[in-house]
Amino acid sequence: MQYGGVPKSMGAKINTFRLRIDRDWEPDWDEFERAVNPRTRLVYVSNPHNPTGSVLSHEAMQRIVRRCDEVGAYLLADEVYLGAEIYCSRTRSFWGMSDRVIVTSGLSKAYGIPGVRIGWIVGPQDVVADCWSQHDYITIGPNKISDAVARIAVKPENREKLYARTRAILQQNLPVMRTWVDGFGDFLTFREPRAGALCLMQYHSATPSYQLCERVRVNQSVLIVPGAHLGLEGYIRVWLGGKPEFLAEGLRRIGLELHAEMARG
Ligand SMILES: Cc1ncc(COP(=O)(O)O)c(C=O)c1O
Repeated sequence: MQYGGVPKSMGAKINTFRLRIDRDWEPDWDEFERAVNPRTRLVYVSNPHNPTGSVLSHEAMQRIVRRCDEVGAYLLADEVYLGAEIYCSRTRSFWGMSDRVIVTSGLSKAYGIPGVRIGWIVGPQDVVADCWSQHDYITIGPNKISDAVARIAVKPENREKLYARTRAILQQNLPVMRTWVDGFGDFLTFREPRAGALCLMQYHSATPSYQLCERVRVNQSVLIVPGAHLGLEGYIRVWLGGKPEFLAEGLRRIGLELHAEMARG
């Protein structure tokens, strides 16, 4: 919610464009071109993407970069899930595709080390200098133990080991999720994520997603994200990470509420 909320809180006008499930979650290009216009200062994309788990094709990346160059906007590419590909090859970075590209990432997703709270930004020198000075007002310095852990984690040989660990967890959990979804027949459908630890699924009932997720929270003590919070009513987002026994128990509990919902018709 921050990528919409923070600029809005600073008085910026936000334009959005939708991703099309019928086009493998590529942007709706008409909407994209309307949204990204000569008044646009910054375009935000996450790739691999939360919440769909999709990865942009190289052609789509080029098209996004070209449009940003054309209108004179910066492209902020959030690549925090890069490295968390489940079966496909490593996601290509936007870095280097134009001198208006800014990339952010961190240790909390593909690296699997959220607790250290360390991330980074790569971009044009003047942008980075500005961000640095803003950052000094917010955080005087990182926690030194986190800093030490991060320095070890980002060493190329360690990074590959951490990505492999994440991939192993996701490869273990995805079939469990697939079987669970299949158990609901037509009531629940999903397009499997290509990367990341999130599964976005569509349920087929008229109950608003917020109401459904509240039932799961209150009755089962499990948190899932209502599609309404992601601009996708009729969907829920379920986490794919974690230990198998936690995933199994979480899915069992969510399932109790979904079966009750199916029975209500
Ligand atoms: C696309 C994306 N970017 C960034 C973040 C935040 O990462 P961090 O916890 O490192 O601040 C998230 C967290 O869910 C995310 O989904």
